[in-house]
Amino acid sequence: MKKIGILGATGYTGEELLRYLSRHSEIELVFATSEHDAGKALRDLYPWLGRFRDSHLITGEQALNVTVDLVFLCLPHGESARWGEKFLTRGVKVVDLGADFRFSDAAHYQQWYHQPHPCPGFLAETVYGLCEWYRDEIRGRRVVGNPGCYPTATLLAALPFLAAGVVAEGPIVVDAKSGVSGAGKSPTRTTHYVEVNEGISAYKVGRSHRHVGEMEQELSRRRGAPQSLVFTPHLTPMSRGILAAVYLPLREDLSGDDLQGILQTRYAGERFVRILETEQPSTRWTAHSNLCLLHAERISGVPMALVTSAIDNLGKGAAGQAIQNMNLMLGFSEEAGLL
Ligand SMILES: NC(=O)c1ccc[n+]([C@@H]2O[C@H](COP(=O)([O-])OP(=O)(O)OC[C@H]3O[C@@H](n4cnc5c(N)ncnc54)[C@H](OP(=O)(O)O)[C@@H]3O)[C@@H](O)[C@H]2O)c1
Repeated sequence: MKKIGILGATGYTGEELLRYLSRHSEIELVFATSEHDAGKALRDLYPWLGRFRDSHLITGEQALNVTVDLVFLCLPHGESARWGEKFLTRGVKVVDLGADFRFSDAAHYQQWYHQPHPCPGFLAETVYGLCEWYRDEIRGRRVVGNPGCYPTATLLAALPFLAAGVVAEGPIVVDAKSGVSGAGKSPTRTTHYVEVNEGISAYKVGRSHRHVGEMEQELSRRRGAPQSLVFTPHLTPMSRGILAAVYLPLREDLSGDDLQGILQTRYAGERFVRILETEQPSTRWTAHSNLCLLHAERISGVPMALVTSAIDNLGKGAAGQAIQNMNLMLGFSEEAGLL
């Protein structure tokens, strides 16, 4: 049994981690933290919880005194790195669900998060935790930056085509829709019920959303040259789920079958990425799971492919993928706790 801790167990990703970890037979939860709700029992916040229900939330400072093998950071960016550094220097492995360990370069982080990186010394060690693309690098690693939710949906759709060398020069265009849990538990003027219910609107369009930084990092790595992105995220009146429509300019005259074949070949044998042959992916089919559903087709009359991608932002886009990363880092079966 490995000892696991969660920092930020009262947020949406922390809650989802508790759900997955409670089904994982090879771990024990040694702490879950909250600064505001320390002292409360988990059963008071999460009455549905079976295992761990009698554990009590503690503060981050108290957690530093607990013996633990791996911690999940479910904290705002900046806070993640601050706490991550404390645990890393104590020899504890870290999976950060926030953005602080997703970049290999501190200047790139500062460009997108508008603050200096709090512990740049660890960035050389971190790996981008997109398991289907970095599995070998993640195994045995002590710090992993779990990808963002929009980036997970987008990159799983786009990377196979860049790797196959069929994407023409020019920006990749992504139109994505997210459920409101993507914005975290605290409502804001633009995310509370009345603003979001029965409507849909775009926000941070073009290249202004901070997820563009990590997406361009990974798209460019795969192309082997700078790859730009035009990204239009939308907030939709649903609790969870992301649907991304990824438009790729094509270098060659490929058919829909060719495009589907590229996805089938790249993800053959993957347990959590499925290629739909005829249906368009729906977020409903991914809810509460670690699945990514993909479909590719050729757009008639123009040299472009449209790849659609659906995930649960709290599943494959956060906690599910974080468990997959933990499994690789600790040498468990990659599927443990996720089926
Ligand atoms: N929501 C998603 O779909 C999603 C997907 C992928 C990645 N992420 C990333 O995952 C991280 C967590 O997201 P979330 O949606 O779970 O956020 P959330 O619902 O807003 O929860 C934030 C958590 O962080 C704790 N916290 C806040 N400020 C803190 C501070 N200064 N010091 C220590 N703890 C603090 C809160 O605890 P208390 O208030 O109880 O103290 C709470 O448990 C973020 O970096 C987010 O960008 C989120």
